[in-house]
Amino acid sequence: QRVSNAGPVVVLVGPPGSGKSTIAELLAAKLGKTHRDTDTDVETEAGKPISDIFVDSGEAVFRAQERAAIIAALKDDDAVLSLGGGAILDPDTRADLAGHNVVFLNVSVGEAAKRVGLGVARPLLLGNVRTQLRNLLEARRPYYDEVAKLTVDTDNRTPAEIAAEILEHL
Ligand code: S3P
Repeated sequence: QRVSNAGPVVVLVGPPGSGKSTIAELLAAKLGKTHRDTDTDVETEAGKPISDIFVDSGEAVFRAQERAAIIAALKDDDAVLSLGGGAILDPDTRADLAGHNVVFLNVSVGEAAKRVGLGVARPLLLGNVRTQLRNLLEARRPYYDEVAKLTVDTDNRTPAEIAAEILEHL
């Protein structure tokens, strides 16, 4: 059930390692839309990787840049949008998401740690990845639940299965 007739056809949220980018790519291909990702938009705008923004300017500066990227991306009718894992920390973003088709990709700590281990460096996951992810999931779960119109479990399922479930609900 579409809750909005403006902006991205679907917005994916979830912690690092929940599969947002992979699933967004698949959905975009199936829907004939463009995959847009706010992390990528921030990096393009800043001209450097997020890890460098954290080192050079700190998390607060990154969050402000992320907020600006989200405001712009939520107006994009041609997008399947994925947000950075921490985007939902901002109360204004959570309020803005109320009018959108938001899907929370749920994942266990163990599975997220496995997936993150294969990916690029993430500034908030230095040190013990499992512990960081556990803390992060615990702190953020209420926010993911708050913004989600649909929650999809991603453990032990293929990207195609996950995308199919989301498509059924659009
Ligand atoms: C963050 C997640 C990252 C990125 C930044 C902060 C977070 O995005 O936005 O490193 O706070 O969880 P992914 O969820 O795509 O890894």
